[in-house]
Amino acid sequence: MPLSRDDALALDSASPLADRRALFELPEGKVYLCGNSLGALPTAVPDRMAETVRAEWGVELVSGWNRAGWTGLVRSVGARIAPLIGVSGRDVTVGDSTSVSLFKLLVAAARLRPDRRALVMEPTTFPTDGYVAQGVARLLDLELRWCDPADPAAALDDDVAVLALTHVDFRTGAMFDMAALTRAAHDAGAVALWDLCHSAGAVPVDLTAVDADLAVGCTYKYLNGGPGAPAFTWVAPRLQGQVEQPITGWWGHRTPFDMPREFEPADGIARMDVGTPPVLALSALDAALTAFDGVSADELRAASLSLTDLFIALVDERLDGQGFEVVTPRDHARRGSQVSLRHPEAYGVVQALIARGVVGDFRVPDVARFGFAPLYVRHVDVHDAVDRLVEVLANDEHRDPAYSRRNAVT
Ligand SMILES: Cc1ncc(COP(=O)(O)O)c(C=O)c1O
Repeated sequence: MPLSRDDALALDSASPLADRRALFELPEGKVYLCGNSLGALPTAVPDRMAETVRAEWGVELVSGWNRAGWTGLVRSVGARIAPLIGVSGRDVTVGDSTSVSLFKLLVAAARLRPDRRALVMEPTTFPTDGYVAQGVARLLDLELRWCDPADPAAALDDDVAVLALTHVDFRTGAMFDMAALTRAAHDAGAVALWDLCHSAGAVPVDLTAVDADLAVGCTYKYLNGGPGAPAFTWVAPRLQGQVEQPITGWWGHRTPFDMPREFEPADGIARMDVGTPPVLALSALDAALTAFDGVSADELRAASLSLTDLFIALVDERLDGQGFEVVTPRDHARRGSQVSLRHPEAYGVVQALIARGVVGDFRVPDVARFGFAPLYVRHVDVHDAVDRLVEVLANDEHRDPAYSRRNAVT
């Protein structure tokens, strides 16, 4: 493992993704390791936004729906995401937040198994997943069964309707074995629902190969769609004729502009749609996703693992005895695209690093998270980040009283 800065630069120039960073606007001198929270701004986005606002909305006005292709955006953006998750573009839709999309999918999943009374989820998942599951359990009078994160399959039995898991854990970066757990869910007669927020665009996902049932994911992290960008939803083609989602809005109707009184779900994935699509956000996302054009899942994975391997190796080598514990699995098969370090003063460490131009984030109670978005993070960034981390600790910068009070967003 090469550890010098020159070695890091050499790895960057040899990378097949070396040309990709130029497709992002990143502030000079900043090391951005927070793409697992909010992806960087792709250069294609500002022009596209200006065009959508000025030339489409400003000129076409309401005819934009027909003349500027606004009605087709949901499908075309879905088709751009599809190869990143191993599915057909016909089967992905985009719109609503992750939380709302998850609600729709959880209800739809439970309704696929009407004789079963339990939803299984793991307790350390991202809070919104658990909160939404609690709401769904209450609404449908189901049991929300928390599983052991080390062995979710142990919670399955013949009363479980849905196993809903987050593929890559937001706090630790640990990745579940999607194929094995989907198989376990099916063996128990349950439906497998995957949250891909920390997977899409960062780790290989093949929902078709693992025979998954339903999936949801956000687009503002590794897909770089911008703050609050809409979520994507996938339903296996074999289930699309059966799923019944709870928010029966007009955009999920078979013939929305005939405006009949009775709701009749659209065919295919369109039945997961609800209301008027967010055209500005979809245009930004459509442009953002062009950064993935021509990039293979293998190239993304190789770059991501190379970056996270280097970060872990440098932390091991240079921060030994400083109170850090690498909580992200070292095993490649179990690692997403982030590295999390447990440290008793993690909040101060993250804030002091930000003051030095290295952006990571903090998650309660004691985790400093660093995301490695393979399209734009370089090995030299990893090297420089650890350099500055060493300096922060050496100078006690993380103990600055200014960091004793936490910001609202950590
Ligand atoms: C696994 C997971 N699910 C859901 C969300 C967020 O949901 P929403 O987009 O509705 O805010 C996050 C946000 O970080 C997440 O990590």
